[in-house]
Amino acid sequence: MADTTDDQPGARAEAEPILRLSGVSKRFPGVKALEGMRLDLYAGHTTALVGENGAGKSTLVKILTGIYTPDTGSLVVDGVERTIHSPRDAWADGITAIHQEPVMFDELSVAENIFMGHMPVDRRGLIDWSSMIARTTELLERIEADFAAKTQLKRLGVAQKHMVEIARALSHDARIVIMDEPTAALSAREIDDLFRIVADLKRQGRAILFISHKFDEIFRVADRWTCLRDGCLVGEGLIAETTEDELVKLMVGRSIDQVFPKREVAIGEPVLEVAGLSNATEYADISFTLHKGEILGFYGLVGAGRSETMQGLMGISPPTRGTIRINGHEARIAAPADAIDAGIAYVPEDRQIQGAVTALGIRENMSLASLAKTANKTGFVAYAAELARTRDLGSKLAVKAAHWDQKLMELSGGNQQKVVIAKWLATKPQILILDEPTKGIDIGSKAAVHAIMADLAAEGLGIILVSSELPEVMGMSDRIVVMAEGRMVRVFDRAGATPEKIVSVATGGMA
Ligand SMILES: Nc1ncnc2c1ncn2[C@@H]1O[C@H](COP(=O)(O)OP(=O)(O)OP(=O)(O)O)[C@@H](O)[C@H]1O
Ligand SMILES: [Mg+2]
Repeated sequence: MADTTDDQPGARAEAEPILRLSGVSKRFPGVKALEGMRLDLYAGHTTALVGENGAGKSTLVKILTGIYTPDTGSLVVDGVERTIHSPRDAWADGITAIHQEPVMFDELSVAENIFMGHMPVDRRGLIDWSSMIARTTELLERIEADFAAKTQLKRLGVAQKHMVEIARALSHDARIVIMDEPTAALSAREIDDLFRIVADLKRQGRAILFISHKFDEIFRVADRWTCLRDGCLVGEGLIAETTEDELVKLMVGRSIDQVFPKREVAIGEPVLEVAGLSNATEYADISFTLHKGEILGFYGLVGAGRSETMQGLMGISPPTRGTIRINGHEARIAAPADAIDAGIAYVPEDRQIQGAVTALGIRENMSLASLAKTANKTGFVAYAAELARTRDLGSKLAVKAAHWDQKLMELSGGNQQKVVIAKWLATKPQILILDEPTKGIDIGSKAAVHAIMADLAAEGLGIILVSSELPEVMGMSDRIVVMAEGRMVRVFDRAGATPEKIVSVATGGMA
């Protein structure tokens, strides 16, 4: 046993599981999402659930939280057989989850979102607003959130919305807390906060299920692991007794070379020159030049203004000052259509909202941004060409689906992301802006995205890579722009960049 000190869970490792799910199968038309799956969770332990995109992780979470009913299987909580038919049943059994794609209500307040479905009521059965606001404020303090209980959800950024989701899970005071890729939208500092919360929950004897594609996180927070491949359990054990390589091999069925495939590419003429770009509140005085064949990294904490700057370039929220030159000519970008015409493509961070039409199929989604290029002389989209391209990009990125016209909403989170990336690659832009391109993507496909980026740079595209993952920015970029509080604080050359310097500058140090 790895650990036997008092506050470590290792000493109780051989205890009975607090939750055991076994023999679980779930089919969707054309897919077996789960097959005879078993999962054990232990009080005071964090179990990491690992597996490729589409392996069945979120399906398992949805079964545990009453969103899906399994075709077969049994659930035992505290030695008692249970059935979960609705989220209410799950709460009653002390199970709560932070979902990968949370359902939230933009028009409502933070407090209402947190207590939706279980609002406190007074003796007359009316909603007890003051107690709801007070409890929300307490929860927000506990997770050190920087917004108020009454704030309308739509005023919050992606990371802040995620904090609401975390507060919502904590509001149930559950014994079993499930986190389905909770860190995907968070920056390094917020991830530290989250891990502090996880440590607290563990100390209180709760069982945690943690889903992530990032191995550094898994090895930091988890005590145990369970691995899924194609809906089946392929292994489980103690984190202290395994290695990253071993887990990757189990997940993928082979070893993966995780080295970033940065290639030496001749850097060409400037393709994009930005000078003094500012908007009213989010960024100021952004000036840089992007060359053909160059990958320019943008690093910073969440809220540093990177995504807002990119949205400015893209005409989503046009800047109030500054100039944008493309191939030496000043470009007027007042709307996204202008940016697309000028040859800029943007893969947004919040792909659920900005990137995909989930009611449409994979093929249609991939074509959305490049309709003009696939339409033939009569204006019709050439079906065969479209399908061929979908197949090509889809298989390069290893999109897992029953068929190419499957609706996006039926794909796993990671596979939806891949389709959105493919959609923009299909436009063959001159300038490609990728905002957190490998967030939520499994390790094998991540390597594929990096390889495609390297290929595109070699073809002469200028690429902007916004990423909060240091190894990714450092591995892929020719130069790295560090932003903080809406401004560029420093530009590093590939040779002069070290993790310490970059982080120090991003957090306000002088390095
Ligand atoms: N509502 C649905 N209709 C049809 N198929 C579905 C549905 N939900 C999930 N699937 C399929 O079930 C399989 C498992 O998906 P799931 O979302 O559980 O994967 P995951 O392990 O969470 O992947 P990721 O890492 O990408 O989030 C996938 O093939 C997916 O397409
Ligand atoms: Mg998932």
